Amino acid sequence: MDGNGRWAKSRGMIRLLGHKAGVNTVRKIVRAANELGIDVLTLYAFSSENWKRPAHEVSGLMSLLKSYLKSELANMLENNIRLRCMGREENLPDQVRDILNTSIAKTSENTGLVLNLALSYGGRNEIVRAAARICQLCLENKLNPADITVEIFAEHLYSAGLPDPDLVIRTGGESRLSNFLLWQASYAEIYITETQWPDFSKEDLHAAIACFQQRQRRFGKTGDQVAEAGTK
Ligand code: FPP
Repeated sequence: MDGNGRWAKSRGMIRLLGHKAGVNTVRKIVRAANELGIDVLTLYAFSSENWKRPAHEVSGLMSLLKSYLKSELANMLENNIRLRCMGREENLPDQVRDILNTSIAKTSENTGLVLNLALSYGGRNEIVRAAARICQLCLENKLNPADITVEIFAEHLYSAGLPDPDLVIRTGGESRLSNFLLWQASYAEIYITETQWPDFSKEDLHAAIACFQQRQRRFGKTGDQVAEAGTK
C-alpha cells in the first residue's frame, strides 16, 4: 500500500494525512475484494523496517490501526470476514494487540474473505523464524532433517494454512518486493501501478485482476505445455 506519503506531500499535507486517506482505501478495497469472492487479501500495513520511521509517524500509524480495527469489527462480523495477522505481533503496542486479538477471535468462525494484516512483518524474519522452529523440532528429535520438505517448511511460516498469493499488487510505482512474502510470492504475478494507495479504487483493483487474467502462468513449464494442459 505504497504512496501515502507522496500523496500527502503533493497536496501540501503532512504524511500522516496520507496514511489516514489510505485507511479509507483499505475500507473500499476490503469491501471490493469480498464482493469479488477473493479468498485471501493480505495487506502490508506495517513492515519490520517501518519501526525506523520518525516516532510520530509510527505512533500515528498505530493509532490509525487501532481505530480501524475498532470501527471495522462489526462490519467484519456482518460480512463474514475473518481477520488474521502475520508478523511480530509481540512488538505492537498493547492496545493494538488487544483489539487485534479480540477481532481475530471474534471473527475466527467466519468463512468468507480472509483479511490478513501484515504487521511488523518482514519476509526474511519470517523465514528465519520458521528455520529456528524447525531446528528446535530437530533438536527435540521430533523431526528428521532429511524429512524437511517445502510443505513442512511452509507450515512454520506465519502464513501456515493460507494459499500462496496469486497476485501481488504494488501501488506507488516502485518495482521491488520490499521484504513482502518472500517465500510465498515465488510464483505470484506482480502488478505495479503508478497510482498512489489513497487513490487506488475498486476499478483499479478490477483492472489489476483483469491484467492478471491475461497472464500465462507457467510454473517452470513451457508455454506449449501449459497451453496443451489448458485444452484438456
Ligand atoms: C507505505 O506508504 C505505507 C505504509 C508504511 C503504511 C500503510 C498503512 C495504511 C494504509 C494505514 C493503516 C493500515 C490499515 C490496515 C488500517 P509510504 O508512507 O511509504 O508512502 P511514500 O512512499 O509515498 O512515502
